[in-house]
Amino acid sequence: MKSTQHKFTATAIGALCLVGVALAAAPAKSSQPKQPADQRAALVLLDAERHLVLEEMRNFLAVLQIITDALPREDMKEVARAARTMGSGAANEIPPITVAKLPEEFKMLAGGVHTSFDLIALDAETLGDPRHTISQVGEMLQKCNACHGIYQIKVGKESRAKK
Ligand code: HEC
Repeated sequence: MKSTQHKFTATAIGALCLVGVALAAAPAKSSQPKQPADQRAALVLLDAERHLVLEEMRNFLAVLQIITDALPREDMKEVARAARTMGSGAANEIPPITVAKLPEEFKMLAGGVHTSFDLIALDAETLGDPRHTISQVGEMLQKCNACHGIYQIKVGKESRAKK
């Protein structure tokens, strides 16, 4: 009798384990529609367009690195030169056909960043005050953050971004 009991207990434990594994493998399958984790508005672009936008982003970051490197040395000429490469007069890598797909708010925020770079360049030359430049960089970073809080980029066969 005892061995049958053991067998039963072992089987029961085995069954419980299986249930546990099954539950862990399929977590919280609720009746609610599946919400994507990233709730930011999606700009749907072609793969090549996404690449250009992200490349511009990385250039922003690279220029910020050059500026923060030059500031402690008070090399305001270098600050101005670097900032100007991202200013509104700089060659725009993003073709008009892609720009046309971007929502107005996105373009306004992007324009604001380019204008900030213009001002950083101008003030670095005329005022030559690193502390002033740092506060301008801080203000500009708010614009970067604002846009990142609103948008994400997705790749689609057909781009659809405007709303
Ligand atoms: C007009 C909107 C906008 C502005 C302004 C903006 N970004 Fe972005 N940035 C984006 C979007 C959208 C992405 C893609 C985010 C995603 O899909 O998760 C991005 C991605 C990036 C990335 C990641 C690039 C990669 O290769 O994945 C970096 C770095 C970045 N931004 C830096 C900056 C910096 C620095 C600034 C300010 C100087 C800035 N961005 C301003 C919209 C913006």
